Amino acid sequence: MTKRKVALITGITGQDGGYLADLLLSKGYEVHGIRRRSSSVNLQRIGHLYRNPHDRAENFHLHYADMTDGMSLFQVLKDVRPDEVYNLAAQSHVRISFDKPEYTSDVNGLGVVRLLEAIRLLGMGDHVRFYQASTSELYGNVQETPQSETTPFRPRSPYAISKHFAFLTTINYREAYGFHASNGILFNHEGPYRGEGFVSRKITRGASAIHYGLQDKLVLGNLNATRDWGHARDYVEGMWLMMQREEPSDYVLATGEQHSVRDFVERAFEIVDRPIEWDGAGLEEKGIDKKSGKAIIEIDPRFYRPAEVNSLVGNPAKAKDELGWEHRTTFGQLVAEMMEADMKQAAAGTLSAEG
Ligand code: NAP
Ligand code: GDD
Repeated sequence: MTKRKVALITGITGQDGGYLADLLLSKGYEVHGIRRRSSSVNLQRIGHLYRNPHDRAENFHLHYADMTDGMSLFQVLKDVRPDEVYNLAAQSHVRISFDKPEYTSDVNGLGVVRLLEAIRLLGMGDHVRFYQASTSELYGNVQETPQSETTPFRPRSPYAISKHFAFLTTINYREAYGFHASNGILFNHEGPYRGEGFVSRKITRGASAIHYGLQDKLVLGNLNATRDWGHARDYVEGMWLMMQREEPSDYVLATGEQHSVRDFVERAFEIVDRPIEWDGAGLEEKGIDKKSGKAIIEIDPRFYRPAEVNSLVGNPAKAKDELGWEHRTTFGQLVAEMMEADMKQAAAGTLSAEG
């Protein structure tokens, strides 16, 4: 009988952590995840896998550690001895990274050094496969369209700069020590597990809350930014495929299709049969519910970024050729699935707080 593979996921309580845990368990892995200490339980995305320490699926285990605490990472790696490490943990909110640049750099940048160095010092570098959650934010002030693995990076936020450091650190351990270490340069990916502070979820949550009379309006920032939005469930498959390759490398995962925040809003409100008509410009622009005539979308500069990434769209050709990976969920299906989940919660009175 072949030995069950062991995976360690940092950031298992986050959006991608939840989808990746589901995928790896379905493939027969023993899955270990790192959670950080919090005063209240935040296991919503993995609640179906984990109940309490005495009643847990034998293939699923959580460990306390923190990306800012190298000793804790060392200890977990030593105990778990994983075959594959997926480093998903991050302060992942771009606008908040402008408020917390030092913390963001510590978790996202130095955290990767702590993890890779622990693997090296434990003598595990010759067999552990390492995935680094890199990002399309690296392209920042984009130099070509669409963006691929060879497009130069021009990061424009503390978040993106910390991820640039992590990207290069990952390549350095590959080149210097022969690690099987790969970067997934992932474009935006969403789903019902998405955090409430990201624009996609803020919109689907807001449209559902307005529809059920729980909220009067939705306040947003830059409506004209465009993103390449896919479904996180499809993207975690790409992460796993990178880890199965004989040779490590860096891959873009994207849909190749672009939509604006404005498109996302229109699509979400169409689902609740409230077509939006735009009126005014800049900070005075409003989204009017055509049926009631009420202004239900407003703009607040609080949600603008000091430096914005206006437009991103990826070219996933390398992932298709080498990994056989392609996104499956269309933009329309993504918005519909997120709306369905939030509408259910709104109807049940369990909709989470605004992000
Ligand atoms: P997310 O929902 O924000 O999850 C982040 C995870 O990191 C959470 O589990 C969080 O724990 C954990 N974390 C944060 N600080 C930590 C620390 N100091 N120590 C240990 N864990 C910590 O992010 P996501 O959307 O799943 O994204 C996963 C990764 O992919 C991130 O690295 C992100 O930067 C990157 N990425 C995401 C996208 C995207 O579109 N989603 C695209 C490209 C790259 P808590 O639950 O305790 O907060
Ligand atoms: N969050 C947020 N809130 N964004 C808004 C809002 C708002 O009210 N209004 C407009 N936006 C615009 C942002 O200015 C940005 O241009 C776009 O919507 C997307 O913002 P987010 O959903 O916060 O995502 P992001 O693109 O900044 O970052 C996400 O994707 C990256 C990959 O490109 C995060 O998941 C990052 O961790 C990830 O690396």
